[in-house]
Amino acid sequence: MAGLSFYSLSNCILHVLLVHYCQSRLIGPNQPIIATAEEDITLPCHLIPGENVAAMTLEWARPDLDPRFVLVCRAGQELINRKNPSYKGRSSLFTDELKHGNISLKLSKVKPADEGRYRCHIPEKNEEAFIDLVVASSAVSSPVISLGGMGRDKTGVMLQCESAGWHPKPELLWLDGEGNLLSAGPTETLRGPDDLYTVSSRVTVEKRHSNNITAESN
Ligand SMILES: *[C@@H]1O[C@H](CO)[C@@H](O)[C@H](O)[C@H]1NC(C)=O
Ligand SMILES: *[C@@H]1O[C@H](CO)[C@@H](O)[C@H](O)[C@H]1NC(C)=O
Repeated sequence: MAGLSFYSLSNCILHVLLVHYCQSRLIGPNQPIIATAEEDITLPCHLIPGENVAAMTLEWARPDLDPRFVLVCRAGQELINRKNPSYKGRSSLFTDELKHGNISLKLSKVKPADEGRYRCHIPEKNEEAFIDLVVASSAVSSPVISLGGMGRDKTGVMLQCESAGWHPKPELLWLDGEGNLLSAGPTETLRGPDDLYTVSSRVTVEKRHSNNITAESN
């Protein structure tokens, strides 16, 4: 009797250890993936220990979207009608990698609107990993400085700077000829329908400043 319960107990411990240590895990990158708009990128996600997942249901989603799926694959077939239309023709898996448990997502022609948190998920394994994507704009226009008239107290001139096509939101700084920071009014930020930011700012330049003023956005 004592022998039997010892056997059950050790069996149970073994079971707990197996579940704890042999449970496969989905692994994503520790850092956000940084991409430039229009680029083709890979969002990494793989199962360890590696095993063939080609026959399983594999899901990539963005929980903030509706419909949320970026890609759903069941037994090697992509379920196209489950996919959010904005990813149509742009998201795929690396078919040859599935046998190693690698379900990394290939995303082509990245757009600013693709930025966000992605979830890769294998329901059968009850495993998920989250991958953050940051998309930098490739459409930035160089800052344009224009004369905005005389300053309020007529001791200087007002300059305005505008720059468009930014993502993420940039910081705009005014510098004088010696590289000193000028104090400017608040930066106005507009977010366009394409998710790109236009920033503008005004500064009043006193006569004592050297005549070389630079505006930088980054
Ligand atoms: C998964 O596949 C992608 C695409 O081939 C590759 O870049 C990546 O290194 C693979 N990941 C692992 C862990 O093998
Ligand atoms: C103005 O300053 C910038 C930055 O210091 C420099 O690159 C540029 O050559 C200067 N321009 C003139 C006309 O002095």
